[in-house]
Amino acid sequence: MDFNEQNLAIRLSGKRIGNNIHFFTEVESTNDVLFKLARDSAPHGTVVIAECQTKGKGRLNRQWQSPPGCNIYASIALRPAMEPVYAPQITLMTGVAVADLLSEYCAGAVTLKWPNDVHIKGKKVCGILAEMSASARGGVDFIVVGIGINVNIRKKDFDESIRNMATSLTEEAGHNISRLDLTVKLFDRFDDLYTRLLKSGFGSIKDAWLAYCDMVGKQARVIFNNDIESGKVLGIDDFGALVISDEKGKIKRVVAGDASLVKG
Ligand code: BTN
Repeated sequence: MDFNEQNLAIRLSGKRIGNNIHFFTEVESTNDVLFKLARDSAPHGTVVIAECQTKGKGRLNRQWQSPPGCNIYASIALRPAMEPVYAPQITLMTGVAVADLLSEYCAGAVTLKWPNDVHIKGKKVCGILAEMSASARGGVDFIVVGIGINVNIRKKDFDESIRNMATSLTEEAGHNISRLDLTVKLFDRFDDLYTRLLKSGFGSIKDAWLAYCDMVGKQARVIFNNDIESGKVLGIDDFGALVISDEKGKIKRVVAGDASLVKG
C-alpha cells in the first residue's frame, strides 16, 4: 500500500499544489475539512486527501460514494485574484486537467459533460465540486476544488443505484492503477493549467474543454429543480454557462442543472 501520507508528502514536496498536505484515514468530506482550514488561512495549494469519506458531497446535494482502499478523494485550496463570476472557469479547467490525465490510460475514450463530469465511454469516472468563499471586498477569498476519481473500485462494488452509470479507471484500462502516481500527476497537470488560466486567460482552456465535450451540436435537455431547458448545444461561455439554441432559435444561457442528450 503506497498510498499514504508519508509517500504523498515525499512526492509532493516543494510543489505549488500539495506541498502542504493533510491526509486522513476517514473524514466526512475533504471539501468541508479544507473549507475550514482555508477559513483559518491555509495557503494557496493546500490539499486534503482522505482514504474514505463518510459524507462525500456531490453536486446538487447528492452523495459521493467514497469507500476506502480504492479511489481518490482530494480537495485543493486556491486563492486566485479573480472576480467571483469567473470562478466556474476553475471547475471547467479542473475537468480538462482530469480528462488529460485519464486520457493517458484510456486514449480517445474520455469525454466531458457539462458542467463538470468526466466520463469514459459514456460512464462517469470523476466528479468535481468547487466551493467558493467571496471576500468582503467582492473578490474571491478562496476556492476549494474537490475531485473524486473512481480509480480501482470494481463495477460490482458501486451502489446499485449508480452501477450502470458509473465506471472506474481500472474497469476501463483493464489493470490496477497506482493512486500515488495518479494523484501526483493530477496535481501537476492541475497546476500547469491553473498557471495558464491566470497568465493567458480562459481561451485555450475553453477550446480544450470543448474538444473533450461530446454535447456540442447535439440536442440536450437541462433539468434544474422544476425548470427544463431544451435546445441544440452551441458551447459554453466565459462564465461557465452552457449556451443553447432553443427550437425557435433563441440563444439561452443555462447556469446550473443536470444535462442529458436527447435521442432522436
Ligand atoms: C459530483 O459529480 O456530483 C461532484 C462529486 C465531487 C466528489 C468529491 S470527492 C472529494 C471532494 N469531497 C467531497 O465531499 N466531494 C468532493
